[in-house]
Amino acid sequence: MSRLFSPLTLRSVTCRNRIFVSPMCMYSSRDGMPTDWHMVHLGSRAVGGAGLVMVEATAVSPEGRISPDDSGLWSDAHAEAFLPITRFMRENGAVAAIQLAHAGRKGSCELPWRGGGPLGAEECGWQPLAPSSLPFTQRHPIPRSLSISDLEEIEEQFRLATRRSLKAGFQVVEIHMAHGYLLHEFLSPLVNHRSDEYGGSLENRMRFPLQITRAVRKEWPEELPLFVRISATDWVEGGWDIEQSVILSRELKKLGVDLIDCSSGFVVPDEPVPYGPGFQVPFAARVRSEAGIATGAVGYITDPAQAETILATGQADAVLLGREMLRDPYWPLHVAPRLRANVPWPDQYNRGK
Ligand code: FNR
Repeated sequence: MSRLFSPLTLRSVTCRNRIFVSPMCMYSSRDGMPTDWHMVHLGSRAVGGAGLVMVEATAVSPEGRISPDDSGLWSDAHAEAFLPITRFMRENGAVAAIQLAHAGRKGSCELPWRGGGPLGAEECGWQPLAPSSLPFTQRHPIPRSLSISDLEEIEEQFRLATRRSLKAGFQVVEIHMAHGYLLHEFLSPLVNHRSDEYGGSLENRMRFPLQITRAVRKEWPEELPLFVRISATDWVEGGWDIEQSVILSRELKKLGVDLIDCSSGFVVPDEPVPYGPGFQVPFAARVRSEAGIATGAVGYITDPAQAETILATGQADAVLLGREMLRDPYWPLHVAPRLRANVPWPDQYNRGK
């Protein structure tokens, strides 16, 4: 029996299979509100058979966005706007998940298809926030270093966004602690140069991300799962690495996190990343065995046999697919026969089977 197509239960939530749609920014929101694009994009991937569909990095505050067109959840109106989308995803058999994020020093940028560079004030840009006032590149604005009261405010923003995720009909929340955004910036010694209790030692660098996790877990119902996405390594000597990721994952587990979604990189430009099929899978395997927590493997997973092997060899509990799901929203339905899994098609599409 296929492991990829076997259900996965976390707390009270059961995913029909272990194929998760990785969170992907669509840069198609208006004032943080989802649009018809999101209904069609997320809805088709639910119809396509994924076990879980995760909404893109969704900012907990306007200045926590990467670009002005990012998704957000900083008001009750945002939660309401997501309701028809989560209803559709759930009616079509997918677990509805959302990634909550703060872009930190990588905020205030142009859309990727317009170059992705930093936005000036005259282009509706804003001053980004970070643990230390170090810009991402020389082209980026110098971020404002966060005060203790700023940290308290951001914790409250994460708490409220978590509460609104429930109102919006989501069943899983993922905290974005990866890819050089705010919480990763606290973890990485390359970017966090603070001299207070939030910088320096590993314990201090983990303090704010763990504080956020504690606040989110307290707000998120006991019966619902909480994920965290990490960058398991910065790929740079002297940066964040897999050993620290294992320690962090143990702490996250103690706080009630259910799954670590193991990505990597993006905290500094031009890292020497060895891209290739399944290149981040060893991180998921190590966190799973050494921290004793469920993991998601992500990155260059495109083939059903590859995905099956990752799960069958105990390297991860689920796979997250990004670009392959952009190429083919019906990937789960299309690949099921190759793993001899009998997956029902939506009634409306049965004649196309
Ligand atoms: C991404 N990725 C990403 N990651 C994340 O944690 N939050 C996000 O919002 C986004 N946004 C995003 C947009 C687009 C268009 C792409 C292609 C990617 C990264 C993504 O989730 C995934 O980790 C990587 O794409 C690697 O997986 P694949 O694409 O090799 O399966």
